[in-house]
Amino acid sequence: MTSLLDPPPELGHDSLAPAGVQAVHIASLLTDYFWISALVFVLVMGAFVIALVRRGSADEPEKTEASPEALRPKRRAVAGATAVTAVMLVIMLVMSVVTGHALAAISKQDAIQIEVTGRKWWWQFEYADADPSKIITTSWEVHVPVGRPVELTLKSADVIHSFWVPSLDGKRDAIPGKRSTLVLRADRPGRYEGQCAEFCGTQHANMRFVIVAESQEAYDAWRMRALTPARAPADPLTQKGQDVFMKSRCQVCHTIAGTDARGAVGPPLTHVGSQKRLVQGTVPNDRGHLGGWIVDPNGIKPGVAMPANPLAPEDLQALLAYLGSLQ
Ligand code: CUA
Repeated sequence: MTSLLDPPPELGHDSLAPAGVQAVHIASLLTDYFWISALVFVLVMGAFVIALVRRGSADEPEKTEASPEALRPKRRAVAGATAVTAVMLVIMLVMSVVTGHALAAISKQDAIQIEVTGRKWWWQFEYADADPSKIITTSWEVHVPVGRPVELTLKSADVIHSFWVPSLDGKRDAIPGKRSTLVLRADRPGRYEGQCAEFCGTQHANMRFVIVAESQEAYDAWRMRALTPARAPADPLTQKGQDVFMKSRCQVCHTIAGTDARGAVGPPLTHVGSQKRLVQGTVPNDRGHLGGWIVDPNGIKPGVAMPANPLAPEDLQALLAYLGSLQ
């Protein structure tokens, strides 16, 4: 059993250290395939070395025409090797099908429903809720309770992406005009990095996110925080920062819940000040990086759709103070 006091492991992903029931099946199949392949390699190399040694020790040049009698053992050996190869491939196929069935058999009962949209180049996660005011939208950290299934509905807003959290499950493509689902369950608390696994443009490698698996209590507390509207400016500087945000084109693309900013092109910024990292984990969340990002996004993430914002220094300082206050 795990407790709330267990520190989460460092951010990362490892399909050989599974943290979910499906990743366990996949890792076990991978291990079995590895040992079968290793056995085949050893047998083939062994036969190869034996053939080399025999050939080297034969003094007489090989006869150009061998009698049918002499060819018989060779034919048998080739037929035997072909049969063994076919049987091994069938065994591996059966193992793969059995694993596929085991992956699909995961229970969806009481699953958290999340709609996932792949965008160039970030993932948008919307936690479904019958009450529209309780839909949480996030772009970087995806919180889930340990041991509870999560049903993800995948789609794409532009090109083909592929959703992959190696520590929890296999890949699933997010295809424009098509919806597919993926159910996963984290059985161990931790922070599991996810990654787009289908080349989708210049920032494909930076199309990342984190699944934070935590206790139900911690998840409920996160939900409460995530549903809280953004903090209102508490002093003249942050008030000025909010004015800068609302008067500039920032609010056309970004949402800050509790304000008039309801853009849905870029990630929501309601609690951006509480994030540890920015731009899909590319840079740490501090004033320097956030300022650099606002002024020249292409300098950090070449190809990004966000335009440069050459703000006056005092406006930029006020905007940074405001965004930093959105805890
Ligand atoms: Cu999205 Cu690669």
